[in-house]
Amino acid sequence: MEVRETLQLRSFAEYKEAYQKSVENPEEFWDAIAEKFYWHKKWDKTLEWDFTKPEVKWFQGGKLNITENCLDRHLDKLGNKTAIIWEPNNPDEESRHITYRQLFVKVSRFANVLKNNGIKKGDRVCIYMPMIPELAIAMLACARIGAIHSIVFAGFSSSAIASRINDSSCKMLITANEVYRGSKPVKLKEMCDEALKNTPTVQTVIVYRRTVEPTPMTPGRDKFWFEELQKAEKECPAEVMDAEDVLFILYTSGSTGKPKGMVHTIGGYMVYTTYTFANVFQCDHFAPTGVKNQSKPKSDVYWCTADIGWITGHSYIVYGPLAAGVTTVMFEGVPSYPDYGRFWEICDKLDVTHFYTAPTAIRALAKQSLDLVNKHDLNSLKVLGSVGEPINDEAWHWYNDNIGKGNSPIVDTWWQTETGGIMISPLAGITPTRPTFATLPLPGIQPVLMDEEGKEIPFKSQKSEGRLAIKYPWPSMARTIYGDHQRYKDVYFSAYDKMYFTGDGAYRDATGNYRITGRVDDVVIVSGHNLGTAPIENAINEHLSVAESAIVGFPHDIKGTALYAYVTLHENQIGDDELRAKIREQVSNTIGPIAKPDKVQFVEGLPKTRSGKIMRRILRKIASKDTSNLGDTSTLLNPDVVKDIMENAL
Ligand code: WTA
Repeated sequence: MEVRETLQLRSFAEYKEAYQKSVENPEEFWDAIAEKFYWHKKWDKTLEWDFTKPEVKWFQGGKLNITENCLDRHLDKLGNKTAIIWEPNNPDEESRHITYRQLFVKVSRFANVLKNNGIKKGDRVCIYMPMIPELAIAMLACARIGAIHSIVFAGFSSSAIASRINDSSCKMLITANEVYRGSKPVKLKEMCDEALKNTPTVQTVIVYRRTVEPTPMTPGRDKFWFEELQKAEKECPAEVMDAEDVLFILYTSGSTGKPKGMVHTIGGYMVYTTYTFANVFQCDHFAPTGVKNQSKPKSDVYWCTADIGWITGHSYIVYGPLAAGVTTVMFEGVPSYPDYGRFWEICDKLDVTHFYTAPTAIRALAKQSLDLVNKHDLNSLKVLGSVGEPINDEAWHWYNDNIGKGNSPIVDTWWQTETGGIMISPLAGITPTRPTFATLPLPGIQPVLMDEEGKEIPFKSQKSEGRLAIKYPWPSMARTIYGDHQRYKDVYFSAYDKMYFTGDGAYRDATGNYRITGRVDDVVIVSGHNLGTAPIENAINEHLSVAESAIVGFPHDIKGTALYAYVTLHENQIGDDELRAKIREQVSNTIGPIAKPDKVQFVEGLPKTRSGKIMRRILRKIASKDTSNLGDTSTLLNPDVVKDIMENAL
């Protein structure tokens, strides 16, 4: 039996039983699951934890390598099964099908490239690559030799790359020369070269040539992927790692200017992402009730449209699906190229059975003509997924009716970079779905709602709303923030005693289903991307004409939330369209195009409390055109500015 099958729950009753066991006897519960994986040595202690420090350790003393679980162990039975199907940006270019055996060989060989270039266990390697199989190969190669990967989304700007490289002192950078996203070329190597001016720790840059364009190379430092591969041995035994050794660092936004390098460790991350992948999506399992193609003999094709630069791609394009031995699709392009039917064209072409995307994409696609959907055969689809932000009712129904044709369950998966894996979600075809609800916690997850006073709202079969916290550790939770454990404690473990605070608000119905209502802190989710307001404000404030700024989110019909900037200028500066454009440009250059504010309003002053804190609540209301209930503004330091801001609102 494959590992995936041994992990899958098969009915609502089995889910309930597993959930109960996971709460009553968590260690026994996780022991039984972890035993399904390949370990060099079994762990001595399942769990040690203390949320006051905070410290969490899973499977201590266990020895393993995650790539042996993703690759080596499949070779016997699944060696010839397709591991990755790669779909290029340009539909005229050929797809690539890479079997588990081929992927094993490619990863081993590239692991030797890393070694030949001086990378050792524990070294940090930054990866800034487009969505090509080599990105997955590079990350798995790091894991093979025990190096720590830090992937930076290839839409980030050079200063964002540099600050992430410097934060964790990366020794190597792996990138590609350029890539096409839609009809636009993205010059990745140029972006890297700019970053590399300020990254003293990087000794080597490996460059994958994705296009034939000439690539500027710095002799001694920059090396081509293919040339290095020629010199590398084929075989690379996996480094035997401790369960609590670091697998990767992934940066996420926070409420200060500095991104947080979330640290994930090997054993718990592997166990949890694989377990949740197997159960939420139910790939290659019996066909869930009511779904199509029950007799189709082909194995499932799972496609998550996220970028590997985000946690969704780490956990549910690469590690989870590969450890489960499933075929995973990687798409290089964008949903709108060559037209807005591209996703559906790919589902049709590759016989995709599981399709996992973000509400922002669904909303953008729902605005297009239905002909773009209906001209493709979507009969292969069995399960649909949603991730990254709350899915609104309209988008949920459009997805359900037009893509799932009413009989593919939608798994609305709530989780975070920090949680490593899916926390609250239906299990496809097994537990009930409910529009706009992430529904029930996965086994092992103990969510709680907290009230205004910081007290737990007990579950007594009544509807309630509050802030979402988790009161017991789970295997894939981030262990710390790289280089700043105090910040980890402050951000996640100080809001409530002995609990992990998620930063999200949530509603719970009378049967215990959760619906996530959105962030309650200074993080704004734009098109499913997590953006901190502070770094954007810092970028704006760097403009010489700007005195101060405040960023808030406002509702947007495609992005979900878009950014609204309130900006005050230094004396004698003129707030015109030219300056607006420059401010947006500045944000784009410092952080990336995704962080550009949609609206920039020049204001005389920002509303502040007497202690000098910007009252974002008021700004949020004005940006959302909801000024009926601004609350008492008379206690502000400068109540007059509110009227001016309202009158000139965009
Ligand atoms: C939001 C993405 C509602 C939430 C995996 C969370 C969601 C933040 C959902 C984490 C969902 C994610 N429903 N909200 N299904 N999934 N979120 O770290 O606010 O990029 O805290 O991880 O996205 O974003 P991150």
